[in-house]
Amino acid sequence: IIVSLTMTYNSKSFLVCAARYYDVNYEINPWMSVKDRPDTNLAKEQWNSYEQKLKDLGTSLHYLNPDPAVPDLVFTANHALVKDGRAVLAKMHTAERAKEEAVFGKWFIDQGFKTLSLDQSFEGEGDAFIVNNTLFYGYGFRSDRKAAEPIAEFFDLKKIVYCELVDPYFYHLDTCFAPLFDGSAVIYEPAFTPKSVKDISAELELLKVNQDEAKHFASNLVVVEKQILTPTGCPEITKQLEGKGFTVSATPLNQFLKAGGAAKCLCLRLDQP
Ligand code: ARG
Repeated sequence: IIVSLTMTYNSKSFLVCAARYYDVNYEINPWMSVKDRPDTNLAKEQWNSYEQKLKDLGTSLHYLNPDPAVPDLVFTANHALVKDGRAVLAKMHTAERAKEEAVFGKWFIDQGFKTLSLDQSFEGEGDAFIVNNTLFYGYGFRSDRKAAEPIAEFFDLKKIVYCELVDPYFYHLDTCFAPLFDGSAVIYEPAFTPKSVKDISAELELLKVNQDEAKHFASNLVVVEKQILTPTGCPEITKQLEGKGFTVSATPLNQFLKAGGAAKCLCLRLDQP
Protein backbone atom coordinates (compact mmCIF):
# COMPACT_ATOMS: atom_id res chain seq x y z
CA ILE A 1 0.00 0.00 0.00
CA ILE A 2 1.33 3.42 -0.88
CA VAL A 3 0.41 6.07 1.64
CA SER A 4 0.86 9.55 0.29
CA LEU A 5 1.42 12.70 2.29
CA THR A 6 -2.02 14.28 2.38
CA MET A 7 -1.57 16.46 5.45
CA THR A 8 0.14 19.70 4.62
CA TYR A 9 1.34 22.37 6.96
CA ASN A 10 1.89 26.09 6.69
CA SER A 11 3.45 28.78 8.86
CA LYS A 12 0.24 28.96 10.92
CA SER A 13 0.32 25.24 11.76
CA PHE A 14 1.55 24.38 15.25
CA LEU A 15 2.03 21.18 17.23
CA VAL A 16 0.78 21.25 20.83
CA CYS A 17 0.25 18.69 23.59
CA ALA A 18 -2.48 19.07 26.23
CA ALA A 19 -1.41 19.46 29.88
CA ARG A 20 -3.23 16.33 31.09
CA TYR A 21 -0.08 14.86 32.68
CA TYR A 22 1.98 18.01 33.05
CA ASP A 23 3.82 18.21 36.40
CA VAL A 24 7.21 18.92 37.95
CA ASN A 25 8.60 15.71 39.39
CA TYR A 26 12.28 16.16 38.56
CA GLU A 27 14.60 19.19 38.37
CA ILE A 28 16.58 19.87 35.20
CA ASN A 29 16.69 23.68 35.25
CA PRO A 30 16.73 26.29 38.05
CA TRP A 31 13.01 27.07 37.70
CA MET A 32 11.99 23.53 38.62
CA SER A 33 11.57 22.44 42.23
CA VAL A 34 9.86 19.25 43.32
CA LYS A 35 9.04 21.15 46.51
CA ASP A 36 7.09 23.76 44.54
CA ARG A 37 5.08 21.78 42.04
CA PRO A 38 2.39 23.28 39.81
CA ASP A 39 -1.30 23.20 40.72
CA THR A 40 -2.20 20.67 38.04
CA ASN A 41 -5.85 21.75 37.77
CA LEU A 42 -4.87 25.38 37.34
CA ALA A 43 -2.22 24.32 34.81
CA LYS A 44 -4.88 22.52 32.75
CA GLU A 45 -7.10 25.63 32.85
CA GLN A 46 -4.19 27.84 31.80
CA TRP A 47 -3.33 25.44 28.97
CA ASN A 48 -6.94 25.45 27.75
CA SER A 49 -7.08 29.23 27.57
CA TYR A 50 -3.64 29.26 25.93
CA GLU A 51 -4.99 26.84 23.30
CA GLN A 52 -8.00 29.11 22.71
CA LYS A 53 -5.76 32.19 22.39
CA LEU A 54 -3.57 30.40 19.84
CA LYS A 55 -6.69 29.53 17.82
CA ASP A 56 -7.82 33.15 18.05
CA LEU A 57 -4.62 34.08 16.20
CA GLY A 58 -5.84 32.00 13.26
CA THR A 59 -3.50 29.07 13.81
CA SER A 60 -4.31 25.48 12.97
CA LEU A 61 -3.36 23.20 15.82
CA HIS A 62 -2.15 19.61 15.64
CA TYR A 63 -2.05 17.45 18.73
CA LEU A 64 0.53 15.13 20.23
CA ASN A 65 -1.11 12.62 22.60
CA PRO A 66 -0.29 13.31 26.27
CA ASP A 67 1.66 10.53 27.98
CA PRO A 68 1.76 10.05 31.77
CA ALA A 69 5.41 8.89 31.67
CA VAL A 70 6.72 12.24 30.37
CA PRO A 71 5.43 15.36 32.22
CA ASP A 72 7.46 17.84 30.08
CA LEU A 73 5.90 16.55 26.81
CA VAL A 74 3.73 19.73 26.77
CA PHE A 75 6.83 21.66 25.69
CA THR A 76 6.61 20.61 22.05
CA ALA A 77 8.97 23.40 20.97
CA ASN A 78 11.79 21.12 22.07
CA HIS A 79 10.83 18.23 19.82
CA ALA A 80 12.06 19.32 16.43
CA LEU A 81 12.91 22.09 13.99
CA VAL A 82 10.62 21.98 10.97
CA LYS A 83 10.55 23.55 7.51
CA ASP A 84 9.08 22.50 4.13
CA GLY A 85 8.00 19.02 5.23
CA ARG A 86 11.43 18.30 6.74
CA ALA A 87 12.04 17.88 10.46
CA VAL A 88 15.26 17.67 12.42
CA LEU A 89 14.26 15.54 15.40
CA ALA A 90 15.51 16.54 18.83
CA LYS A 91 18.02 14.50 20.77
CA MET A 92 17.28 15.54 24.34
CA HIS A 93 20.17 16.49 26.61
CA THR A 94 18.68 15.02 29.81
CA ALA A 95 17.76 11.41 30.52
CA GLU A 96 14.42 12.58 31.92
CA ARG A 97 13.35 14.13 28.62
CA ALA A 98 15.03 11.55 26.37
CA LYS A 99 11.98 9.38 27.14
CA GLU A 100 9.93 11.79 25.01
CA GLU A 101 11.89 10.95 21.85
CA ALA A 102 9.98 7.78 21.02
CA VAL A 103 6.67 9.66 21.37
CA PHE A 104 7.41 12.65 19.14
CA GLY A 105 9.65 10.67 16.77
CA LYS A 106 6.71 8.42 15.91
CA TRP A 107 4.44 11.41 15.33
CA PHE A 108 6.79 13.00 12.79
CA ILE A 109 7.35 9.74 10.93
CA ASP A 110 3.61 8.92 10.91
CA GLN A 111 2.89 12.36 9.45
CA GLY A 112 5.26 11.69 6.57
CA PHE A 113 7.96 14.23 7.39
CA LYS A 114 11.43 13.68 5.97
CA THR A 115 13.39 13.47 9.21
CA LEU A 116 16.99 13.92 10.29
CA SER A 117 18.30 12.42 13.53
CA LEU A 118 21.54 13.78 14.96
CA ASP A 119 24.46 12.35 16.92
CA GLN A 120 24.66 15.40 19.18
CA SER A 121 22.18 16.91 21.65
CA PHE A 122 19.69 19.27 20.05
CA GLU A 123 16.54 20.54 21.76
CA GLY A 124 14.62 21.63 18.67
CA GLU A 125 13.07 25.03 18.27
CA GLY A 126 13.94 25.70 21.90
CA ASP A 127 17.47 26.39 20.64
CA ALA A 128 17.01 27.22 16.97
CA PHE A 129 15.24 29.78 14.81
CA ILE A 130 15.26 30.05 11.04
CA VAL A 131 15.01 33.62 9.73
CA ASN A 132 15.19 33.81 5.95
CA ASN A 133 18.38 31.90 5.12
CA THR A 134 19.95 32.16 8.55
CA LEU A 135 19.98 29.72 11.46
CA PHE A 136 20.12 31.35 14.90
CA TYR A 137 21.50 28.58 17.07
CA GLY A 138 21.58 28.54 20.89
CA TYR A 139 24.11 26.50 22.84
CA GLY A 140 25.76 26.41 26.24
CA PHE A 141 23.28 24.37 28.27
CA ARG A 142 21.22 21.89 26.26
CA SER A 143 22.06 21.80 22.55
CA ASP A 144 25.51 20.89 21.28
CA ARG A 145 27.19 23.56 19.16
CA LYS A 146 28.29 20.85 16.70
CA ALA A 147 24.71 20.08 15.69
CA ALA A 148 24.30 23.48 14.00
CA GLU A 149 26.16 22.58 10.80
CA PRO A 150 24.24 19.42 9.88
CA ILE A 151 20.99 21.28 10.63
CA ALA A 152 21.90 24.21 8.39
CA GLU A 153 22.89 21.77 5.65
CA PHE A 154 19.62 19.78 5.95
CA PHE A 155 17.58 22.97 5.42
CA ASP A 156 20.04 24.45 2.91
CA LEU A 157 20.60 27.55 5.05
CA LYS A 158 23.42 29.88 4.08
CA LYS A 159 24.48 31.23 7.45
CA ILE A 160 24.69 30.24 11.13
CA VAL A 161 24.65 32.81 13.94
CA TYR A 162 25.92 31.09 17.08
CA CYS A 163 24.21 32.35 20.23
CA GLU A 164 26.09 31.37 23.37
CA LEU A 165 23.96 31.23 26.51
CA VAL A 166 25.49 31.96 29.92
CA ASP A 167 22.65 32.27 32.48
CA PRO A 168 21.23 28.93 33.71
CA TYR A 169 17.77 30.53 34.13
CA PHE A 170 17.79 31.18 30.38
CA TYR A 171 18.99 27.76 29.31
CA HIS A 172 17.20 27.62 25.94
CA LEU A 173 17.52 30.26 23.20
CA ASP A 174 13.73 30.75 23.14
CA THR A 175 13.74 31.81 26.82
CA CYS A 176 15.68 34.98 25.99
CA PHE A 177 15.34 35.62 22.22
CA ALA A 178 12.44 35.84 19.78
CA PRO A 179 12.73 36.90 16.14
CA LEU A 180 9.66 38.79 14.93
CA PHE A 181 10.30 37.96 11.25
CA ASP A 182 10.30 41.65 10.26
CA GLY A 183 14.04 42.22 10.63
CA SER A 184 13.84 42.60 14.40
CA ALA A 185 13.89 40.43 17.51
CA VAL A 186 13.12 40.60 21.21
CA ILE A 187 16.14 39.83 23.39
CA TYR A 188 17.26 39.62 27.03
CA GLU A 189 20.90 40.55 26.48
CA PRO A 190 22.40 39.46 29.84
CA ALA A 191 21.59 35.84 28.92
CA PHE A 192 24.29 35.92 26.18
CA THR A 193 28.03 36.46 25.90
CA PRO A 194 28.89 39.98 24.67
CA LYS A 195 30.25 38.44 21.46
CA SER A 196 26.93 36.73 20.75
CA VAL A 197 24.95 39.93 21.42
CA LYS A 198 27.21 41.65 18.91
CA ASP A 199 26.76 38.90 16.31
CA ILE A 200 22.97 38.89 16.73
CA SER A 201 22.73 42.69 16.55
CA ALA A 202 24.64 42.61 13.26
CA GLU A 203 21.68 40.67 11.79
CA LEU A 204 18.60 42.05 13.53
CA GLU A 205 17.27 45.21 15.16
CA LEU A 206 16.91 44.38 18.87
CA LEU A 207 14.05 45.18 21.25
CA LYS A 208 15.45 44.78 24.75
CA VAL A 209 13.63 43.04 27.58
CA ASN A 210 14.35 44.19 31.15
CA GLN A 211 15.28 41.79 33.95
CA ASP A 212 11.89 41.79 35.65
CA GLU A 213 10.02 40.96 32.45
CA ALA A 214 12.68 38.46 31.40
CA LYS A 215 11.76 36.53 34.56
CA HIS A 216 8.15 36.54 33.33
CA PHE A 217 9.43 35.04 30.06
CA ALA A 218 8.77 38.19 28.03
CA SER A 219 11.07 36.83 25.31
CA ASN A 220 9.08 33.59 25.11
CA LEU A 221 6.43 34.71 22.65
CA VAL A 222 4.49 33.23 19.77
CA VAL A 223 4.58 35.31 16.58
CA VAL A 224 1.85 34.79 13.97
CA GLU A 225 2.31 37.42 11.29
CA LYS A 226 1.54 40.77 12.99
CA GLN A 227 0.01 39.18 16.09
CA ILE A 228 1.93 38.14 19.20
CA LEU A 229 0.97 36.03 22.20
CA THR A 230 2.96 36.66 25.40
CA PRO A 231 2.79 35.35 28.95
CA THR A 232 1.19 37.86 31.35
CA GLY A 233 3.37 40.32 33.26
CA CYS A 234 5.20 41.89 30.33
CA PRO A 235 3.77 45.45 29.88
CA GLU A 236 7.05 47.09 28.86
CA ILE A 237 7.82 44.77 25.96
CA THR A 238 4.14 44.85 24.98
CA LYS A 239 4.41 48.62 24.53
CA GLN A 240 7.51 48.22 22.36
CA LEU A 241 5.80 45.57 20.21
CA GLU A 242 2.67 47.67 19.78
CA GLY A 243 4.91 50.58 18.78
CA LYS A 244 6.17 48.38 15.94
CA GLY A 245 2.62 47.68 14.74
CA PHE A 246 2.02 44.29 16.37
CA THR A 247 -1.24 43.32 18.08
CA VAL A 248 -0.35 41.75 21.41
CA SER A 249 -2.41 39.47 23.64
CA ALA A 250 -1.30 37.95 26.94
CA THR A 251 -2.20 34.69 28.62
CA PRO A 252 -1.50 33.50 32.21
CA LEU A 253 1.09 30.71 32.30
CA ASN A 254 2.64 30.94 35.77
CA GLN A 255 2.07 27.21 36.38
CA PHE A 256 4.30 26.46 33.37
CA LEU A 257 6.99 28.90 34.51
CA LYS A 258 7.44 26.43 37.39
CA ALA A 259 8.93 24.07 34.79
CA GLY A 260 10.89 26.83 33.07
CA GLY A 261 8.58 27.29 30.10
CA ALA A 262 5.87 29.63 28.76
CA ALA A 263 3.97 30.62 25.59
CA LYS A 264 6.59 29.82 22.96
CA CYS A 265 7.78 26.60 24.61
CA LEU A 266 4.27 25.13 24.52
CA CYS A 267 4.01 24.96 20.72
CA LEU A 268 6.12 24.01 17.74
CA ARG A 269 5.94 25.57 14.27
CA LEU A 270 5.16 22.95 11.62
CA ASP A 271 6.49 25.28 8.96
CA GLN A 272 8.43 28.53 8.92
CA PRO A 273 7.05 32.00 8.18
N1 ARG B 1 11.09 21.60 31.93
C1 ARG B 1 11.45 21.75 30.56
C2 ARG B 1 12.95 21.57 30.40
O1 ARG B 1 13.67 21.97 31.28
C3 ARG B 1 11.00 23.08 30.05
C4 ARG B 1 11.24 23.29 28.59
C5 ARG B 1 10.91 24.67 28.11
N2 ARG B 1 10.96 24.71 26.69
C6 ARG B 1 11.54 25.67 25.96
N3 ARG B 1 11.42 25.60 24.67
N4 ARG B 1 12.27 26.60 26.49
O2 ARG B 1 13.42 21.04 29.43
